Amino acid sequence: MKVLVMNGPNLNFLGIREKGIYGEDNYESLCKRIQAKADALGIEAEVYQNNSEGALIDRIQAAYADGTQGIIINPGAYTHYSYALRDALASVQMPKIEVHISNVHQREEFRHVSVTAPVCNGQIVGMGLMGYELALEAMIELVK
Ligand code: DQA
Repeated sequence: MKVLVMNGPNLNFLGIREKGIYGEDNYESLCKRIQAKADALGIEAEVYQNNSEGALIDRIQAAYADGTQGIIINPGAYTHYSYALRDALASVQMPKIEVHISNVHQREEFRHVSVTAPVCNGQIVGMGLMGYELALEAMIELVK
């Protein structure tokens, strides 16, 4: 089973940006954590990060034809306004899970809206980096 784990803008700055919100761990340690969890679950995870909307859309479109069976995505701030990313996610018929490290509902009002969540199977919010591990576990059930 092959899962694509995508991170949008500024998530490569984990461990640098707003540590009180996103924690001390850097992006590399997130990638290692995802790979370790995927190994333990016996699945293949490709981890991808990009700061650009178009690059994220291109990667989602590529997933249509490259054997990807599920997408886990933290779209960063694009979550709140990117209809283009939403349309790209809606285009590919496979399970999709949205992840947010922070509890967006406890934060500014603009973060309470997700335009991408309605085209995903579910959303994991506020569980820190563990959210990605929970999403991998859930994805196995969704792909079955
Ligand atoms: C985030 C929440 C977004 O509002 C923010 O723009 C991010 C990170 C999260 O993981 O908590 O970049 O997606």
